[in-house]
Amino acid sequence: MCGIIGVIGKEDPVHALLDGLKNLEYRGYDSAGLALKNYYQIQVIKSVGKIANLEEKVSDTSLIPAFLGIAHTRWATHGSPSEVNAHPHTSGKVTLVHNGIIENAKEIKERLVQEGISFVSDTDTEVAAALINFYYEKDAIQAIDLALNDIVGSYAFLILFADSNQLYALRKDSPLVVGVSDHGNFVASDIVAIASWTRQYFLLEEGEIAVLSDSRVDVFRDGKTVEKNILTLDQNDGDSSKGQYEHYMLKEIMEEPMVIEKTLNSILDHLDTFSDLTQYEQIHIVACGSAMYAGMIGKSLLEEYASFPVICEVASEYRYKNILYDRKTLVILISQSGETADTIAAMRKAKDASVDTLAIVNVKTSTLARESDRQIFIEAGPEVAVATTKAYILQVFVLALLSYQTAVSKGMVHDSSVLVEARKLPQMISEVLNRRDEYIKIAEKIYSQENIFFIGRKIDYAISLEGSLKLKEVSYIHSEAYQAGELKHGTISLIHEGMPLIAILTQEDILKKTLANLEEAKSRGAMTIVVSNQSIPFYDMEILVPKVNAFLQPILVVPCLQLLAYEVAKMRGCDIDKPRNLAKSVTVE
Ligand code: G6P
Repeated sequence: MCGIIGVIGKEDPVHALLDGLKNLEYRGYDSAGLALKNYYQIQVIKSVGKIANLEEKVSDTSLIPAFLGIAHTRWATHGSPSEVNAHPHTSGKVTLVHNGIIENAKEIKERLVQEGISFVSDTDTEVAAALINFYYEKDAIQAIDLALNDIVGSYAFLILFADSNQLYALRKDSPLVVGVSDHGNFVASDIVAIASWTRQYFLLEEGEIAVLSDSRVDVFRDGKTVEKNILTLDQNDGDSSKGQYEHYMLKEIMEEPMVIEKTLNSILDHLDTFSDLTQYEQIHIVACGSAMYAGMIGKSLLEEYASFPVICEVASEYRYKNILYDRKTLVILISQSGETADTIAAMRKAKDASVDTLAIVNVKTSTLARESDRQIFIEAGPEVAVATTKAYILQVFVLALLSYQTAVSKGMVHDSSVLVEARKLPQMISEVLNRRDEYIKIAEKIYSQENIFFIGRKIDYAISLEGSLKLKEVSYIHSEAYQAGELKHGTISLIHEGMPLIAILTQEDILKKTLANLEEAKSRGAMTIVVSNQSIPFYDMEILVPKVNAFLQPILVVPCLQLLAYEVAKMRGCDIDKPRNLAKSVTVE
């Protein structure tokens, strides 16, 4: 959500800025802009829509020679997506870009208006620029500090001052990574934005201000210099190319066998140390979006096979609820990015209550990874498509292993076939993914529909939630998932002739019950599609997946639903990797 990059001391900063913005596109945005600076002037160029529009505008503009620049992709919060609201914003001597939300922008603006300061945009960011400029005399850091005393909210700022040749960077709740090299210094919301220019970096912490010049980077906290430990990016991290694939979503689905293998190898050796949950009496699983739906599968598995009481809750609710903890509560936070604002707030709430926190997270340098008590890393690598696929599968995989290990520790499961079958998963997922033609045939039958429902019970219901979310996110078809038994308490009134109903049927104990619900819908005209691990005749269409141990079964079902959503979205001509209004990394609440 919003992407930031700044460059200083590099030849051709424009190229680096635009390249960086493209690598941040995945975060979601609706306008973009950049500012260039030399010793005498600052030039700002902005445009609405795709970065290609900004590129076109830049190439049509006579650019100033510059050694310094900042750029931004904006996901509108305060004010519509328009050129005037796009970043950078300038007030007096200050030009800045911002990721986050200034919660008391209205109050600050009223105060500044009284001081005779005028505004051109509807944004909270322009208010921040005006406030820093208001305090600015000669000392940039002092002006920033004074402004921060007034500001309530979240931010990552890159700030230029008209009479300074340095770039200032600071953050709270939104990440910033600083890249260093002997051919320029860089700062961005994500390492992928600068990985093609340098692999040496450090993470800026809250409360620090980085001052970048062409030949050095200084970091200060409370007026004192901070020594930062320079890290080196792994060879594979930051590789976010699309390769031979038409879309990132497809590439990332196709990577699922590989990342399952990688994750299994990385966690198998310490399975019993990380997964012995029996010291706790209750578990809270907290996350947002697909990560929460992965958590729903974890809840089902822990309840069903380890008789463990589990609450699974969306983080935006959890953080504001009256949660009843006891000392034997474990809070599991799940997140691909590790930067989702609500999930981080939920973790901090748990820590404030002195209960243990465990993060299942992909980005190892993220806030969630750094602040949680314990971590299990999934090895998804960079995930670029806004709608998560491979990271979700890995979250489910880790939860399956956790649940299995807990069931073993509690003496409820005795055989080790899960681990044997886990080794076979990459091959089995590949088989599922290789049947793309079947999913295309089903997609052809349903892609022009306005509504598609999913049903399931227990774990199948949790799977349905993700299948439905994936479909609506990328294809814009209205879709809902229902507990199969609930269908007739209202929703069945929406079933009409030819409307697709997708039933997930992988649990033998409950199969007949869900089938009865499917039958009810079929007899009212629904186009019935069955996804199962056993052949079930008499329905309109069928997706058959290999049968595996119940702990692992969801991992073979969801890839079909992901591919189905992908094919449907492709047939509808949707912007698959960057669906409208969505952001990959939701860094504001
Ligand atoms: C956004 C993404 C989803 C993701 C959710 C949680 O809504 O579009 O794909 O599931 O955020 O993100 P996280 O990084 O915390 O897993």
